[in-house]
Amino acid sequence: MRISVIGCGYLGAVHATCMAKLGHEVVGIDVDGAKVAALSSGRAPFYEPGLNDLLAETLGTGRLRFSTEISAAAGSAVHFVAVGTPQKRTENGADLSHVHASVEALIPHLRAGDVVVGKSTVPVGTARDLSKRIAEQCPSAALAWNPEFLREGFAVRDTLEPDRLVYGLDDTNSGARLILDEVYAQALAEGRPRLLMDYETAELVKVSANAFLATKISFINAMAEVCEATGADVSMLADAIGHDARIGRKFLNAGLGFGGGCLPKDIRAFMARAGELGADQALTFLREVDSINMRRRSRMVDLAREVCGGSLLGQRIAVLGLAFKPNSDDVRDSPALSVAAQLQLQGAAVTASDPEAVPNAMRRFPDLTYTESVEEAVQNADAVLVLTEWEHYRSLDPQFLKTLVRRPAIVDGRNCLDPVAWRDAGWTYRALGRPRAAAIREADTVLASRFSEGPLSGGATAPVA
Ligand SMILES: NC(=O)c1ccc[n+]([C@@H]2O[C@H](COP(=O)([O-])OP(=O)(O)OC[C@H]3O[C@@H](n4cnc5c(N)ncnc54)[C@H](O)[C@@H]3O)[C@@H](O)[C@H]2O)c1
Repeated sequence: MRISVIGCGYLGAVHATCMAKLGHEVVGIDVDGAKVAALSSGRAPFYEPGLNDLLAETLGTGRLRFSTEISAAAGSAVHFVAVGTPQKRTENGADLSHVHASVEALIPHLRAGDVVVGKSTVPVGTARDLSKRIAEQCPSAALAWNPEFLREGFAVRDTLEPDRLVYGLDDTNSGARLILDEVYAQALAEGRPRLLMDYETAELVKVSANAFLATKISFINAMAEVCEATGADVSMLADAIGHDARIGRKFLNAGLGFGGGCLPKDIRAFMARAGELGADQALTFLREVDSINMRRRSRMVDLAREVCGGSLLGQRIAVLGLAFKPNSDDVRDSPALSVAAQLQLQGAAVTASDPEAVPNAMRRFPDLTYTESVEEAVQNADAVLVLTEWEHYRSLDPQFLKTLVRRPAIVDGRNCLDPVAWRDAGWTYRALGRPRAAAIREADTVLASRFSEGPLSGGATAPVA
């Protein structure tokens, strides 16, 4: 199958490469010449595990190429639209200008029987409007909406082995379904679920899935606030409620909250769209989900101030983690970068580190001091903050790090460290939603050995009193 993928960012570059891996002949198209040049030479313009190897492999087969020219889409039977839908600058709604511009640019190159497939996350109603536009200009082409559920950090696997395929179709058109079945033949042969629905439901599946995940994270972060007020421990609480199969442990890690290029802007765009449709009451809870999430960032700054003795002025703070999540270099709306910048603005001298995200962070906040080395970052620090749960940070040696800092104080913004190990090494340990993890020292070893008799599902966290 000949395929074009329009928009080669985090989603589109992975999608184009994976489609070529599946045996299709693919052209990836982007208006950004630097991105196209990097991809054409086998270098992903962002960090995504496994992507560089797959790019090299698929470029080598001759089935994958990249172009800045939309005319390169001519001759493909399927055209995936994977351009960005960022938040509008001054309001909550999604900016659809890239979607409209790319579809308008594509229309003159469509042929009879072609299928345009929307992948971008869009407000409900967008696909219906686009299908009318395509029908006016090229009546023999069709539109399908096929939302994407990949997770950055696992994008290659999620694209090759999707947990479900959603096809939003105009109910009069079955040709688009057959073509999509051919595109996804391998996944379907593996028995992966394929769900057929109308455009509106397909669009809503994506945004409601994101709204649900955001709500789950903010729920446990709201519990963290209550734990802070009562002396309870949110990690133990999450382990305990997570054993209930109806609740589950995933996405119940309290901490600095969600960020990135999707969840925050998607829940805001969802609220804005519901407002336009007169259904705003249905989603007012998302405003609270958003505020709980944003409050985590200021609470983190407060915790840093507390461990620095009440003032950030002149304090040297090492920030470990800048990406919005581990295994990614994406700093779009990253809670970690936002906290690092706030600390600096409030008078601290921040040295920030991340295994992959330093170049992106530096472009957004050039005023911070950056290093890729943890040892350099923590040198003479008055406080160390872990803000992205990279595997590397989970396994840091507290004994060794203590020899490098000025004051052994650590704030675990992701509840990903073992408080007992850090306190045993002489550190002041603080975490969001675990106020007593700071206070209790002596009883820990006894409690830890007692609790460790039972496995803690999903726990990156060690039990503490
Ligand atoms: N990143 C994710 O994990 C993810 C997951 C699921 C869905 N999505 C959705 O996918 C869409 C893309 O997200 P992303 O993270 O890849 O964004 P991105 O900003 O990384 O990539 C978007 C790309 O589109 C290109 N572009 C813009 N206008 C164009 C045009 N007219 N023609 C060709 N290319 C154009 C940009 O240059 C950019 O490279 C968004 O709607 C997002 O919500 C993203």
